[in-house]
Amino acid sequence: MIPTILLVDKDSADRRDWKAFLQNQGFDVYATGDGKAAVEECLRLQPDLVLLHDTLVDITGCQLCRKLKADPANHLVPVVLVMEAAGAEEAARGREARADDFWGATQSRWEALSRIQLLLQLKTYIDEQARSVVLSLAQSIDAKYPSTAGPSDRIAEYAVQLGESVDLNDEDLEILRVASLLHDIGKVGVPDSILTKPGPLTIEERTIMNQHPVIGENICAPLKSLRHVLPVIRHHHERMDGSGYPDGLYGDRIPLKVRILQIADIYDALITDRPYREAMSREEALEILSREARRGWLDKSLVERFCELCVGGFFVPRGRSMLAWYYA
Ligand SMILES: [Fe+2]
Repeated sequence: MIPTILLVDKDSADRRDWKAFLQNQGFDVYATGDGKAAVEECLRLQPDLVLLHDTLVDITGCQLCRKLKADPANHLVPVVLVMEAAGAEEAARGREARADDFWGATQSRWEALSRIQLLLQLKTYIDEQARSVVLSLAQSIDAKYPSTAGPSDRIAEYAVQLGESVDLNDEDLEILRVASLLHDIGKVGVPDSILTKPGPLTIEERTIMNQHPVIGENICAPLKSLRHVLPVIRHHHERMDGSGYPDGLYGDRIPLKVRILQIADIYDALITDRPYREAMSREEALEILSREARRGWLDKSLVERFCELCVGGFFVPRGRSMLAWYYA
């Protein structure tokens, strides 16, 4: 994948030179000249690196760096401050602003390129490690609460096969697969006493429990590689009639991949033992899914499709678990 660099500098011949230089080295470069636009572009692009010149009119480079780093979505994005000089005082200001590197404006282009490449290599490494940790965390939740949540890889299996049957492309299937593994990762922020409570939750406990989609989104937000998975994590408890959470989305405003995952998630919950009831038969589970579709909670046509696949014996194990496949 081509690395994306956000170049923040006042519009000048120097900025145009930097942009052309970096593009010639094979980077995807976006340039902006003010702080407000830089914050917006950073969120939109999720760049691999921000090259921030201390030349802006509306905000200093250090202030903007602090602002960018305060957003969890930018925690893993390296920010390089380019200052007028590179003395001890500037270094202290750069560190205080949480810049990952800083150099003086007289830095040679080739020296700058070498430092940029080093930072990008470091970011790739950290991103891979963090992704691995996040997936391990999801796996540990499955292992810790086997009676309250089905193994995410089994849910992924149902979701991907339903996705294939409605012609999702390979990219969307991969997003669906990863989202299935991670959708409940936010439960790590919910107390054990609530997660394992055998009886119904109180209103206060339900409020805490209902925060897990947003907690999960926040956990995964800094990882660029999980960017497309975030909406599925956030919205996996929405309902077609708008009565779900956290945003009360309804109908087609709920992404298709979310609507698919919901069916896989609920079906898996119904056919497995829970602390408060025994596993249901396939027929009972499909009847409940159909009832929830009639009540306006689930996508009716997708539930019908899922029932057809189940009755047709479509859901068969495919050898190794999906999580094992993913780590391979
Ligand atoms: Fe959930």
